[in-house]
Amino acid sequence: MKELDELGGDELDERRTEELDELGAHDWERLAEMRADFLDAATGDECAGLADYWMSRRDLELYDRTFGARIGWKWQAVARELALRGIVPPSGCVLDWGCGTGVATRVFLETFGTERVSRVHLFDRSPAAREFACERVRAEHPGVAIADDALPSDASADVLLVSHVLAELDEPASSELLALARRARWIAWVEPGSLPISRRLSALRDELRAELEPLAPCTHAESCGMLVPGRERDWCHHFARPPAEVHQSRHWSRFARELGIDLRSLPYSFLVLARREDVHAARSSTASRILGRPRVEKASARIDACDRDGVHDLVLLKRESKELFKSLSEPALDCPIFEWRVEGSRIREPRRAIQSDARMTRDGAQDRAT
Ligand SMILES: C[S@@+](CC[C@H](N)C(=O)[O-])C[C@H]1O[C@@H](n2cnc3c(N)ncnc32)[C@H](O)[C@@H]1O
Repeated sequence: MKELDELGGDELDERRTEELDELGAHDWERLAEMRADFLDAATGDECAGLADYWMSRRDLELYDRTFGARIGWKWQAVARELALRGIVPPSGCVLDWGCGTGVATRVFLETFGTERVSRVHLFDRSPAAREFACERVRAEHPGVAIADDALPSDASADVLLVSHVLAELDEPASSELLALARRARWIAWVEPGSLPISRRLSALRDELRAELEPLAPCTHAESCGMLVPGRERDWCHHFARPPAEVHQSRHWSRFARELGIDLRSLPYSFLVLARREDVHAARSSTASRILGRPRVEKASARIDACDRDGVHDLVLLKRESKELFKSLSEPALDCPIFEWRVEGSRIREPRRAIQSDARMTRDGAQDRAT
C-alpha cells in the first residue's frame, strides 16, 4: 500500500477520512460476535430463528460499513446481470422485507432510479433497523416517499426485495414471508452462497413457480435441476466482485484480518421472479448457465452448468475456447450464460448468450454500448 506522502489530492483525502473513521478494538469484537451469530443461524436448526440482535445504533453502523457493504456488492452484481439480460422491475411500491440497514433498497434505487417508485416500505422486526434504514435511504434519495410502519396481514408489493434473512426465520416468519412473496408482482431475493441457504432458496423458487416465473439466475422456467435426487451436495451459487479499491483499503484489509474473511471471495445465491401474467415474452431458452466455481486444471476445466434439462457436469478443453477457459479462473464471472453444443460431456463451440457490453436505460429499453 502507498505511504501517505506518496498520495495526492482526492486519494489523500480519502485515506485521511478512512483513518479518522477507523473502527476500534471493541467494534471488531462486536463484529466478530455478530458474524458468529450469523454463521450459527446459517448452519443450525432450520426453524429455530434468531432473536433480535441489533443492540445499539453502533451495531447498525458497524454492519453497514462491513457485512452490509459486502451484501451491497452482491446486489450490484445482481443488478448488473438484470441490466445485461434486460430484466426490468415493474413500477409501483417497493417493499424491503427484513431491511436491516436498507442496503438492498439503496442498490435498487441507485440502479433503477426513483422515478417509477411510488413508495418504499422498509420493514424489519427491529425498530432500530427500520429507523437506520429510513435515514440512509432518505439521505441518498431525498425525494422518495418512505414508510416504515407494520405490515398488514394482506400486505402486497409491486417489487419485493429480500436479502439475507432466510437463515434467521422461524417457521411462522418463513410462512409469512412466503405468503407475501406469493402476492408480489416481482421479487429480487439475495442470500449467502452457502449450500443449505442456496438449496432453501431453490426450494422456494419451485414452491413459488405456480404463481411466479423464475427470471434469474435461471435461463429456464422448469423445476430446479439442483433439487433432483443425487445432487444433495450441490447448490446453485455465484460469485460477485468487490470494487477494486477494496484491495487498497486499510479498513478492508483490517476487516479481512480481524474476521478471517477472504475479500476476493463473495459467494451469493439469488432469485428473481415475476408474476406469470406480467411475463409476456417466453423466457425459457436453450442457454446454459455456469454455476459456482469451475475446477480449472492445466488444459481442461470441469464445469457445473444448468439448463432447462437440469444440471450437468461438463468439461471444457482449453483448446475449444482459450478466452472462456481463461475467464474461468477469475474470482467472479459476469453473467455466465452461454450457448454451446455438448458431445458426451464435452462443451463444443461455446459463445456468450448475453453480451457483457449490453447496457440498460432506466426506462427498460436495452442499449448496446458501442
Ligand atoms: C442479516 S440481516 C440482513 C439485513 C438486510 N436485509 C441486508 O441484506 O443487509 C437480517 C435482518 O432481518 C431481520 N429479521 C429477522 N427476522 C425477522 C422477522 N421475523 N421479521 C422481520 N425482520 C426480521 C433482522 O432484524 C435483520 O435486520
